[in-house]
Amino acid sequence: MQATQVTDNTWRLSANIHDILFEGMWPIPHGFSMNSYIVKGEKTAIIDGVCDWDGTPEVLFDQFDQMGVKADEIDYVIINHMEPDHSGWIKAFREIRPNFTIVTTAKAKVLLEAFYDNTNEVMVVKSGDTLDLGNGHVLAFAEIPNVHWPETMATFDTKTGTLFPCDAFGSFGAINESPYDDQLTQEQIDFYEYEATRYYANIVGAYSGPAKRAVVKTETLPFKIIAPGHGIVWRQNPQKIIEDYKRYAFYSKGPAKEEITVIWGSMYGNTQRGVDPVVEGIRSEGVKVNVHQVPDTHYSYILRDVWNSSGVVLGMPTYEYKMFSPMAVVLDELGRKKALNRQAFRFGSYGWSGGAQKELDEIMLRYKMEWDFLDPVEFLGAPSQEDLDLIYQRGKKLAVQVKEWVAADGCT
Ligand SMILES: Cc1cc2nc3c(=O)[nH]c(=O)nc-3n(C[C@H](O)[C@H](O)[C@H](O)COP(=O)(O)O)c2cc1C
Ligand SMILES: [Fe+2]
Ligand SMILES: [Fe+2]
Repeated sequence: MQATQVTDNTWRLSANIHDILFEGMWPIPHGFSMNSYIVKGEKTAIIDGVCDWDGTPEVLFDQFDQMGVKADEIDYVIINHMEPDHSGWIKAFREIRPNFTIVTTAKAKVLLEAFYDNTNEVMVVKSGDTLDLGNGHVLAFAEIPNVHWPETMATFDTKTGTLFPCDAFGSFGAINESPYDDQLTQEQIDFYEYEATRYYANIVGAYSGPAKRAVVKTETLPFKIIAPGHGIVWRQNPQKIIEDYKRYAFYSKGPAKEEITVIWGSMYGNTQRGVDPVVEGIRSEGVKVNVHQVPDTHYSYILRDVWNSSGVVLGMPTYEYKMFSPMAVVLDELGRKKALNRQAFRFGSYGWSGGAQKELDEIMLRYKMEWDFLDPVEFLGAPSQEDLDLIYQRGKKLAVQVKEWVAADGCT
């Protein structure tokens, strides 16, 4: 991986990570990038860090060499965010460069001591504070709590207009030697947009309120470049990722896009028979539909599609007096991540008592999800033709409602 120049006196260093679960739980078949940045004035600062996941940031050190930067020239280590993906390299760095000053928030200082037995000098900063590196590179700091942890801040180089927001405005997806939006084809930008929505729904979604506030703060800055801790750097059209994040934050409370996600699971195929009719009903209204079977599809992808969807269909049978358990797992995750206020419909088979509906109501209540459900279609054993026709009609009705809702209240 090559170090690349972002703008005057500013470089991006990066490692692509593959073959792990992000945060120990999210699949990343296309990898993801860990970015850090060097800003050189008379003094030199490194912003964020590159953890190469075995705790040794060899990739980062190799890129110092490529840039001709010597580790002992680095005066400041700016920690925007203490999560170990960005800060886990500090101990290894200390071994080759014992004397540097860490610049971070008061909350992060406490965590630094707890996670890394920190012995380095710490300069505690808050919103509005600045650090002058010389040659005009005055770094300004803005706290953006809870994007992603409570201690998080963003750093802004007032000379070049580069914002370093760490987790905010990031995405999954490894990056090749072209990390800048001005070097990418539309197809590549679309790929990162897909991966950005999955990253947002999986990692940031639960903090959509703080994310909205971070966007508002960002918009007060005269930014020209957005250089996040994961994903591509926005140099040509930084407003795009700002607008995208605005939409993603808005989608938490709906409406989202004019899309419906159908999630279904079935043991013996009775519930499954309702899937085609509901999909046809939705399509008959020209609404886009995403279909996921549980437990076959990891909930990372389901979460991403539900995040983008104004409507959700759930098809699952009763299982041991509750709902088919893989569906409960998915709904629980949707509740935790605050996919709220969807238009919804549920169908499914049962054998004697039913119980799926009761558990669904409990989950909706537990997470205050406020999904607005059409009447369910529940059938004993196999569905009759009448049941299947009704499922088709409910799919169609849901699609009509979604269209009306998006037209009335959608985020453009
Ligand atoms: C392990 C197991 C547990 C079940 N528990 C219940 C139950 O508690 N209450 C009920 O009404 N039906 C129960 N059923 C019956 C199923 O809901 C019924 O067979 C249904 O048709 C399955 O739908 P499917 O073909 O979509 O899997 C259970 C079935 C299985 C296999
Ligand atoms: Fe994070
Ligand atoms: Fe991160």
